[in-house]
Amino acid sequence: MTAVIKINQLTRCFKETTAVDQLSLEVFAGEIFGFLGHNGAGKTTTVRLLNGVIEPTSGSMRVLGFDPQVDGPALRARTGVLTETPSMDERLTAWDNLSIYADLYRVPRVEVHKRINELLDEFDLADRAKERVGGYSKGMKQRLALARALLHKPELLFLDEATSGLDPIAAHHVNDLIVRLARREGHTVFLCTHNLVEAQKLCDRVAVLEHGRLVALGTPAELTRQYVRRLDVQIEINEEQIEGTLHILRSLPRLVISEPVRTNGALTVTLSGHEAIPDLLEILVHKSIRVYRIAAKETNLEQVYFALHDEKESVQ
Ligand SMILES: Nc1ncnc2c1ncn2[C@@H]1O[C@H](COP(=O)(O)OP(=O)(O)OP(=O)(O)O)[C@@H](O)[C@H]1O
Ligand SMILES: [Mg+2]
Repeated sequence: MTAVIKINQLTRCFKETTAVDQLSLEVFAGEIFGFLGHNGAGKTTTVRLLNGVIEPTSGSMRVLGFDPQVDGPALRARTGVLTETPSMDERLTAWDNLSIYADLYRVPRVEVHKRINELLDEFDLADRAKERVGGYSKGMKQRLALARALLHKPELLFLDEATSGLDPIAAHHVNDLIVRLARREGHTVFLCTHNLVEAQKLCDRVAVLEHGRLVALGTPAELTRQYVRRLDVQIEINEEQIEGTLHILRSLPRLVISEPVRTNGALTVTLSGHEAIPDLLEILVHKSIRVYRIAAKETNLEQVYFALHDEKESVQ
């Protein structure tokens, strides 16, 4: 796997605040990488560092092989960025805003017209393209900013809260576009988001930041396996062995953390995490219980996020 972003011990301080703290990670070509963390965790600062907008206090990084501090313009020709608060020239039309950027990003003149039309269509702005952006709604401005970030077909796209302020249909459309860019066209997407449901659906891997530090990194499935400490499972067993099984379950407080409940021929219990499933299964099989099925209720990134938060709180 090729790493398009390599970050090594990256640190950025603003006076007494350490916004990014010894961050090391890699992002691979073609993946949708989710960057999660509370308000002020350091997500936007990282994006700004990776694009050469601000300088690191210490540490190093390579983005598409470039050092953002040294080769900023060459790098930005190949990356697209949707910033948190994108600015447009409000006095100009959407068309003119895009046209200025097309020049700036050296989109070949013969392609400009077609490219702008494609994007205006894509983001459902074609019939308002000749209006001044100052009269646009928030979501329309956001869609225009996304179109602008994509003008030069960047191979690496940074999206800082891409769908914030969009209505559910527009947000869905943008998420489809992100998937299409990554899966069909091989682009890499670095996505800062607070929307954990969206991150779970879209992202190949996610990183979680807490006060500038990396606290978790992996696929959503890996992270749920690692961090979720309460897992509801349903166990289907031989009807005649239910009493015996209840007895066994009650004797395993490390694995089984709730009182088992009988529900039409099965038992429902809360386990202490994913690893408790094979451990419990082994014990039940060893005790000659005929297990027909163990089904875990689906877990999600939201549970990971809260588990990480709780872990942090209990350390403090
Ligand atoms: N230019 C700056 N001057 C001073 N402090 C800054 C500056 N930029 C960021 N910070 C501080 O760095 C920390 C990280 O901010 P950052 O904007 O990166 O967080 P974030 O994870 O993007 O948060 P949010 O989810 O709210 O967008 C915050 O404490 C913020 O106040
Ligand atoms: Mg931010």
